[in-house]
Amino acid sequence: MKFVLVVGARPNFMKIAPILDGFRARAGGSSDFVVTLVHTGQHYDHAMSDAFFADLSIREPDINLGVGSGSHAEQTARVMIAFEKVCLSERPDWVVVVGDVNSTLACSITARKLGIHVAHVEAGLRSRDMSMPEEINRLCTDAVADLLFTTDEIASENLRREGIAEENIAFVGNTMIDSLLRHHRRARDLPLPDGLRDRDYAVVTLHRPSNVDSVETLSPLFEAIRNIAERIPVVFPIHPRTRRNLETFGLVQGFNADSGIRFLAPLGYLRFIGLVSRSKFVLTDSGGIQEEATVLGVPCLTMRDNTERPITCSLGTNILVGTHPECIRRTAFSMLSGDRRPATIPPKWDGKAGERIVEALLYRCAAQSYYAAAV
Ligand code: UD1
Repeated sequence: MKFVLVVGARPNFMKIAPILDGFRARAGGSSDFVVTLVHTGQHYDHAMSDAFFADLSIREPDINLGVGSGSHAEQTARVMIAFEKVCLSERPDWVVVVGDVNSTLACSITARKLGIHVAHVEAGLRSRDMSMPEEINRLCTDAVADLLFTTDEIASENLRREGIAEENIAFVGNTMIDSLLRHHRRARDLPLPDGLRDRDYAVVTLHRPSNVDSVETLSPLFEAIRNIAERIPVVFPIHPRTRRNLETFGLVQGFNADSGIRFLAPLGYLRFIGLVSRSKFVLTDSGGIQEEATVLGVPCLTMRDNTERPITCSLGTNILVGTHPECIRRTAFSMLSGDRRPATIPPKWDGKAGERIVEALLYRCAAQSYYAAAV
């Protein structure tokens, strides 16, 4: 059996690492399989890609498609063209995609049209917001996938409602949390940036095009961040897109001169997790950080009006603060006065999702071989 595992962008790397580990743990056993790791090259900067491979001890990709940046159509199309060649030469039985980035969509459609089975890890998440490119990627990927691995029962229920057959849905837990549980102690021991003390700073991340691509949305958000920085030090590891737009719109004069805000280049996995785990709270528009903050027990203020991860609000530490500066400020200030909600860790976020996924894939392969031999 041949499996091709796909990664493309920063949030994919921590999701694939536990699956690679799961396959490694089963190698040499009774199952006979080959695993090929393909990097589409959607993210290519050292800080956005290579640093994660090093921190998570992921082996070098076997194939790098080197597609780089572009419009959504250009990037998706380039991945499809390059990945089709890989599918034709490697002839995998299964392609495993993770998350909701353009590479996820491109590879799942390409594989399925060639008659290759597709497994989607982190299936069924829905924000119901079709202005998010990731929501379109999730819907399309789930519509073509043969096996859908979910992180919680809400996601499984979303898939059932969309008509996905029960036998193709597997609630396995969260591979992003597998990586977190594996590495967070090591991450916590790393030194903090100079001058920061435990629980006495906030971490900000902001990169979503709907928040940062126009001055009308970015300016009030940045103003709210500045106001928070007047009360508590703010550390801001900045995505290349956000950095470019803050400069273009003239919102910062020199990245290190801005009072209270400490801008950093994008951080590697361990440094980022270490920073979040010791912070007072995190202010973000990311998807995955809502989950990581929940498990780390750190309050997460999400600058969006919706989330595809509602379990982080109902059980975890996540609060949707929207994008109105007053609401962001008010909630952040209440965190400073010690407001905290009780939070618990969602079921099966226990560090074993990668193992469960590999076991389910091998089981499905064995069943396929059995039926193929029987006919
Ligand atoms: C992508 C994902 C998003 C994820 C985010 C994490 C999609 C639709 N979006 O968004 O879900 O949360 O990754 O970062 O797939 N750039 C660099 N160096 C890089 C990569 C990008 O400078 O290594 C710059 C380029 O100018 C590029 C821009 O960042 O145009 C955006 O990159 P892109 O891959 O298009 O999307 P992200 O915003 O990173």
